[in-house]
Amino acid sequence: MDIIKVKNLSKIFNGNVRAVDGVSFDVKEGETFGFLGPNGAGKTTTIKMLTTSISPTEGDAKILGYSIKKNASEVRASIGVVPQEYTADEDLTGYDNILLPADLYGILRSAAKKRIAELLELVELSGSEKRKIATYSGCMSAISIILSWKLLNG
Ligand SMILES: Nc1ncnc2c1ncn2[C@@H]1O[C@H](COP(=O)(O)OP(=O)(O)OP(=O)(O)O)[C@@H](O)[C@H]1O
Ligand SMILES: [Mg+2]
Repeated sequence: MDIIKVKNLSKIFNGNVRAVDGVSFDVKEGETFGFLGPNGAGKTTTIKMLTTSISPTEGDAKILGYSIKKNASEVRASIGVVPQEYTADEDLTGYDNILLPADLYGILRSAAKKRIAELLELVELSGSEKRKIATYSGCMSAISIILSWKLLNG
């Protein structure tokens, strides 16, 4: 079964930069797929479209049968993304960085908040959760990311 089906995907930035030009490929379930190309070839732009953070100018792709254009929220609920670096959103508080992924994956707000309070207590971050990540030490922001994973994985 093709778990990812990409058809004629294109992205034109600012009306004239053709970053991705009619890309099509399929990925089978269980397959390890490497997406390679020279600098500026359009890899990151393609992945951003497939993960629904930007919309395509032309074409479409299906992830588990869900269209990245028409079923973006189902696509988001079906995928996991591991970024190049561990990143917390600097402009959000520690608390919101932990809550946001739980919201995206549809975890009940009240259950998430109860669990976050327990986890913050456990790692002795209670009291710092209302501060923006920008004011955290490296270790504190790393712990916040770990807590968001922990919340998703029970
Ligand atoms: N937001 C944007 N606005 C305008 N042009 C953009 C934007 N994002 C990317 N581009 C352009 O689109 C092209 C593809 O960029 P992209 O980042 O997708 O390449 P890449 O294959 O990931 O490259 P690298 O190997 O360097 O990471 C480049 O010419 C880039 O300058
Ligand atoms: Mg890139």
